[in-house]
This record gives sequence, structure tokens and C-alpha cells, in this order.
Amino acid sequence: MNATEKFEHSIEFFNREREKEEILSILRQEPREINFIYGPINSGKTTLIQKLIDDLPKDKYVVFYINLRGKLIKEYGGFVRVLFKVKRKEISEKVIEKGEKLAKKALVLAGRYLSGIPIEKDMLDGFLETKSSEDVFEFLEEYFLKISETKIPILIIDELQVIGDLEINGKAIYKLFNFFIRLTKELHICHVFALSSDSLFIERVYAEAMLEGRTNYLLVDDFDKETARKFLEKYNFGDTDIAIQYFGGKPGDLIKLLAQNKDITIFMKETTDEKKRFLIDMLDELLYVKPKIEIGKEKIPVERHKIIDVLKKFKDKEETEDVEISRPEKIYLVNRNILFVNSKSGIIKPQSKIILTAIREILKEIK
Ligand SMILES: Nc1ncnc2c1ncn2[C@@H]1O[C@H](COP(=O)(O)OP(=O)(O)OP(=O)(O)O)[C@@H](O)[C@H]1O
Ligand SMILES: [Mg+2]
Repeated sequence: MNATEKFEHSIEFFNREREKEEILSILRQEPREINFIYGPINSGKTTLIQKLIDDLPKDKYVVFYINLRGKLIKEYGGFVRVLFKVKRKEISEKVIEKGEKLAKKALVLAGRYLSGIPIEKDMLDGFLETKSSEDVFEFLEEYFLKISETKIPILIIDELQVIGDLEINGKAIYKLFNFFIRLTKELHICHVFALSSDSLFIERVYAEAMLEGRTNYLLVDDFDKETARKFLEKYNFGDTDIAIQYFGGKPGDLIKLLAQNKDITIFMKETTDEKKRFLIDMLDELLYVKPKIEIGKEKIPVERHKIIDVLKKFKDKEETEDVEISRPEKIYLVNRNILFVNSKSGIIKPQSKIILTAIREILKEIK
């Protein structure tokens, strides 16, 4: 039974031809850069990369996919544990029987993808004891070199921002970036993809001097209007014009719409009202408190009237340029998942069409 047969509303992977081609063309060349896949919330970044992994020829690539979502990583041990996966006993015994080296085991085990670098438990314990990330990266370099003798390794880290602020004798992310640069720009042995929907994290990465000239950015945005229309038509949805007007092309929102049985105008009003209440509550709170945003070493208060000025930029436009926008208020709104910043193009827009509609409606109501 496949996914479409299992559930009444199962949705097949749709389109993304341009993005798929972009990634496949990266995979056809030798690894040179770290690839950052970014985009608004629920735009389909994870789904796209999973689909690509599924479709890749298994005899050519070995894919390691590590998702940091929901992982609470506070120290070195947690960081090391997410990178590795201790192999189940029977697998390791079978492989030992064959007398293969560690990296070769990964080649044997590579089915769909590996959700961590498979190692023996005593090796993981060793890494955890030494408390030095140098050993780990040395090991991993050797590991990927070995794999690259016969196949092309692909390392994918989803939700990379989770370790954005982690400190392990300095920022862990810098060590990871150095390692990624080693794998790509210097050794050309492993493709590296990092995914994130945290646009402030991507903004920091974009401005990071050590990554200058060593990165490639791929935007996975919501579907454009035409694609959204085709997507809805595929599932025989009737009111495509209204749907796109209110839900835009966000796959996550369109799927919710397809899955519900209410009249579209009622559903639309309910979802917009929910976002309106969230925005109104936020503005109400700002009447009493001034949250502080850290910029450099300074802590700068967020001003309610400046928040409203930023929101007003979307009164007649769907997006605006990231210039002359008050920085603390921009950061505050991005942190609250109200706005999305595209650092590469310098464009800011609401995270979804529903939020845009809610912003416009509350602007009419507030003083
Ligand atoms: N191309 C697509 N075809 C069909 N459904 C899709 C497609 N892209 C995404 N979806 C659906 O939209 C929802 C959101 O997708 P996904 O989780 O991949 O987004 P994301 O960008 O990774 O989200 P987040 O910002 O939370 O990381 C999922 O239910 C997924 O199945
Ligand atoms: Mg995701």
C-alpha cells in the first residue's frame, strides 16, 4: 500500500522542477561549495530534499540526512550524539563478519538514507570521553574520504540553526563550517546541504566572513500562483481563485485547505481570525512591555509604533525591500514568524498569505 492509498487525503509530491534541476546540477559537479537551502516556514524544503534523496541512484550516492528539529543540544555530548548513530548489533556483527572497514559498512547499509553516521558504540563512547571535537572531525574526514573512493557522499543537515549558538570551546557552528569547507571547497569529496527556515540564522550565515565565496544559496519558496492553481486543480478543488487569494502558494496551507470539509469562506475567516488574534495580542502586550533585542553587544527595546510602521509596509504591497526598516522591530517580527527575510535578494515579506491578510485587516482596526 502506498501513501496515496493509505489515507483519503494523501498528497503526492508536486512540481518543484526548477529546484530539483538546480540541486541535480549541483550533484553533477564536484563538490565546491556549502549549499544552504532556505525559505519561508512550511514552503516544502524538507519534502523537496527527501524526494530528491528517494529518487537518487543508490549505487552512486550515499546520503546522510540528519534532522536537528526538536533536538535540545546544549553541550558537546549532545552535538556528537546527533551526528552519529550507533548501529544495531545484528547489523554490526554481520558487517564485521565480512571484515569490512567502517566507511564501507555505510555503503552496505545505505538504503534510503542514513539518519546519522553509523559507528560502533565504543567509538561513540571514545568521542564522548575525549571531549574534543577535533577528533570527531578528523574521523569524519577520513570516513568521507573512504566513501568517496567508490561513491559520492551527500551530507544533509536539516534545521541547522538549532546549533547556531552552541558553544564548544568556541562556537560549534564555526567548527562545523570549517569541516564543511574542508569537504567541499578543499577536498571536493562530499556534497553538503544545510536547510533552515530561520531567516535570521541564514542572514547571519550570509554575512559570515569565513563563508564568503564558499556558499551557494537555494531558495525554496511557496509555490507561485500558477503552480498553486495547478496543484489545487489536480485535487479537483473548485474555488482556486479565492483559495490562492487567501492562502497563496504555501504547500502546507494548501494541504490543510484540501483536507478540510468546511465552506472555503468559513475556513478562510477562521484561519485569518486566528492570525489576527495573534497579532492583536502581540500589539497589546507591547503596550505594557518593551522586549529587548540584542544587536552586537547592545540590547535595544522594541517600540510598538515602529512595529506598526513595519507592518504598514505591507498595506498595499506583498513584499518590501529590506532597507529603511527598523532593525530591532524587524528581528522581533521575524523571530515571531510573522516576517520572512530573504537575505540574498534583500526582500522581506510576511511568512504566509494568511498573515499578510491578517496584517492588512488589523491595520484597519488599530489606532
Ligand atoms: N512539492 C510538494 N508537493 C506536495 N506537498 C508538499 C510539497 N512540498 C511540501 N509539501 C507539504 O507541505 C508541508 C510542509 O512541507 P515541509 O515540512 O517540507 O516544509 P518545510 O519548508 O521543510 O517546513 P519548515 O519550515 O517547518 O522546515 C508538508 O505537509 C508537505 O508534505
Ligand atoms: Mg523542514
